[in-house]
Amino acid sequence: MTILVTGATGHLGRALMPALHARGLDARGLSRTAPGHVRGNLLTGEGLPAALSGVDLVIHAATDGRRDVAAAEQLLRAMDPEQRLLYVSIVGVDRVPLPYYRQKLAVEHLVRARGGSILRATQFHDLVFGMARALTAAPVGLCPSFDIQPVSVGDVAARLVDLAGSTGPVYEDMGGPEVRSARDLIAAYLRATGRRRLLVPLRLPGRIFGGLRSGGHLAPGHATGTLTWESYLEARLSG
Ligand SMILES: NC(=O)c1ccc[n+]([C@@H]2O[C@H](COP(=O)([O-])OP(=O)(O)OC[C@H]3O[C@@H](n4cnc5c(N)ncnc54)[C@H](OP(=O)(O)O)[C@@H]3O)[C@@H](O)[C@H]2O)c1
Repeated sequence: MTILVTGATGHLGRALMPALHARGLDARGLSRTAPGHVRGNLLTGEGLPAALSGVDLVIHAATDGRRDVAAAEQLLRAMDPEQRLLYVSIVGVDRVPLPYYRQKLAVEHLVRARGGSILRATQFHDLVFGMARALTAAPVGLCPSFDIQPVSVGDVAARLVDLAGSTGPVYEDMGGPEVRSARDLIAAYLRATGRRRLLVPLRLPGRIFGGLRSGGHLAPGHATGTLTWESYLEARLSG
């Protein structure tokens, strides 16, 4: 089986490519600029016919955060009908009305209409790390009043490798091993980085934060990721 991975240079893609190769699968990555990958641009369509040549499955993990629907439409136009598609989405894109999630949901509709599969994941550790760093940059740290279920890109990559072999459409949620309050995760980040901050709760009104407070982005019944936040912090900060 030959696989094309879009987003191969991203956080997830950098874990997914070696995981596919370790399973003995023939996988090539797509990138607009990075050496060692097949050159292609999902927005312009440049390079897609060559990148898709001989491919059985596309794992679509590319995103630019703003034009994902246009990119998916371009990709789907370039694919042959018999080529399978596995899309990486986010838990709760249908429950939390973030503009980015609306785009992801629209792409999910395109993928489903084509008979493709979808793996929705909760927030990656790297995203939560960036959030914790940004919210504690000032002497007084801010703590959003919702829970998070961080998952490692390695765990998500492993599940994608498993799903690469499935033929029928699969729609699946996947989350990290623990649902924790943002305050708890930020406090662990501060301990691991040896810093102290006064932490002030950040409670914002509106439907987006309401959706997050009610846990629309969580998948407690699918806590199949294994790497904990503390293990991630230890590995990241020792590297
Ligand atoms: N971050 C999270 O917490 C999280 C959680 C659940 C699901 N997800 C989903 O997981 C997927 C991967 O996320 P990530 O955080 O790994 O992404 P990322 O690090 O932001 O990487 C984005 C990737 O998209 C590629 N890309 C962007 N625009 C492109 C274009 N026009 N043509 C071709 N490639 C393009 C980039 O490749 P080049 O720059 O090399 O071209 C890059 O490899 C996304 O679909 C995201 O929504 C993310």
